[in-house]
Amino acid sequence: MKIGKVGFLVFLVLVLSWSTCSAWFGNNKQKRDKKSNVTGEATTSWVLNRPGSSIVFKVHGNVYPVGFYNVTLNIGQWPRPYFLDIDTGSDLTWLQCDAPCIRCSQTPHPLYEPSNDLVACKDPLCASLQPLDEYECQHPDQCDYQIDYADHYSSLGVLLRDVYILNFTNGLQLKVRMALGCGYDQIFPTSSSYHPLDGVLGLGRGKTSFISQLNAQGLVPNVVGHCLSAQGGGYIFFGDLHDSSRLIWTPMSSKHHSKHYSSAGAAEMVLGGKAGIAASSVTFDTGSSYTYFNSNSYQALLSWLKKEARRKGIKEAPDDHTVPVCWHNGKRPFKSIREATKYFNPFSLTFRNGNAKLKSHFQIPPQAYLIISNKGNACLGILNASEVGMDISMLDKVMVFDNEKQLIGWAPANCDRLPKSTYFTI
Ligand SMILES: *[C@@H]1O[C@H](CO)[C@@H](O)[C@H](O)[C@H]1NC(C)=O
Ligand SMILES: *[C@@H]1O[C@H](CO)[C@@H](O)[C@H](O)[C@H]1NC(C)=O
Ligand SMILES: *[C@@H]1O[C@H](CO)[C@@H](O)[C@H](O)[C@H]1NC(C)=O
Ligand SMILES: *[C@@H]1O[C@H](CO)[C@@H](O)[C@H](O)[C@H]1NC(C)=O
Repeated sequence: MKIGKVGFLVFLVLVLSWSTCSAWFGNNKQKRDKKSNVTGEATTSWVLNRPGSSIVFKVHGNVYPVGFYNVTLNIGQWPRPYFLDIDTGSDLTWLQCDAPCIRCSQTPHPLYEPSNDLVACKDPLCASLQPLDEYECQHPDQCDYQIDYADHYSSLGVLLRDVYILNFTNGLQLKVRMALGCGYDQIFPTSSSYHPLDGVLGLGRGKTSFISQLNAQGLVPNVVGHCLSAQGGGYIFFGDLHDSSRLIWTPMSSKHHSKHYSSAGAAEMVLGGKAGIAASSVTFDTGSSYTYFNSNSYQALLSWLKKEARRKGIKEAPDDHTVPVCWHNGKRPFKSIREATKYFNPFSLTFRNGNAKLKSHFQIPPQAYLIISNKGNACLGILNASEVGMDISMLDKVMVFDNEKQLIGWAPANCDRLPKSTYFTI
């Protein structure tokens, strides 16, 4: 997740062990609520017996200039709205929190007032947030955690349970009790005191992630996905929403190899119809904004793009420092990404699927690798890095992370329209 500025990629989520600050919650000895996690007019099994229970949230934001995508969630016994950054690169959902707060930014909404339903230190949810299997519990009644994100910011907090108000596509609205982090000490990479979001919505593969918790309560299949538009906005979804026969699939790496949604197989880059450099396993991460290629792939892509640009009479714009490489068309600034796309060609990645002969093609059209800078130049939204991670390159596609079948799927899509529920409503 990046805040305020276009951020950086690969979200490494390291969780350090405990802290002396845990005393903020130290005297809270309330017993955990043993009531059903699901309240409202339906029981869990009732929901399960209905076909197609899934949840869809509208998303706001873009890769540039905003630099993040956000959804609004209503949380709390007396529900209040919060703006959350969506992040498939991390697990825990947390809110800036009045525990009281040691370091919080200014937020769009009042700080979250924590519930007193603490998750215990030995709870499996807490264990999944600790860096070591064996960890110490200074306060057995509470779960202290720290998350460090790749772009130098971090959140320290306490895990608790509270109510989320969720609208299912079958028409039900349920109050679902799930764990979330009360983040009471944040470090942000920028000095700006204003942070445009209240917290992070963690969509990763771990136990604490939003989808894992929904699935553990039998509410939706363990499938999460998104459709983010190159024009900005889009939606995220939980559960089965798309016809799987219409998607292209590749196996997901085993959890053992990656905490992230990564392809099991290596990808090969195809430029102008010619198979090129073998990349590596690819990580799909909405928390990063840009896409990152390793040095060889980046070099090959850049040479190809430069050649293509020269052929179409597009010149480099070295004075534009939005990102390392930008182009202008010499006449007038590009007003939109659509205007720029006619000067550039799609390329693709192909994934080998184990021993299967069939390869899966992931096409990357110009709007999924270019941004229009504030100077009206077309700039390359793919950066040089040591690993391969994709964010901008997932634009204008439905992306599905199926944790049940351990598959990653995609298909070109119009993400400006929310999917119509094909399921009956009551
Ligand atoms: C509530 O959630 C907890 C942890 O996720 C789980 O252990 C428990 O069985 C759930 N209770 C019900 C009634 O679903
Ligand atoms: C959920 O549904 C209610 C009632 O239809 C509506 O008022 C509310 O805006 C919906 N919330 C979200 C997050 O879609
Ligand atoms: C987050 O999304 C809401 C709508 O859900 C929107 O009103 C708000 O402006 C967005 N926040 C930011 C910082 O973009
Ligand atoms: C990409 O980064 C590597 C390592 O930092 C560097 O050696 C290489 O020159 C860079 N490639 C380009 C095209 O900038």
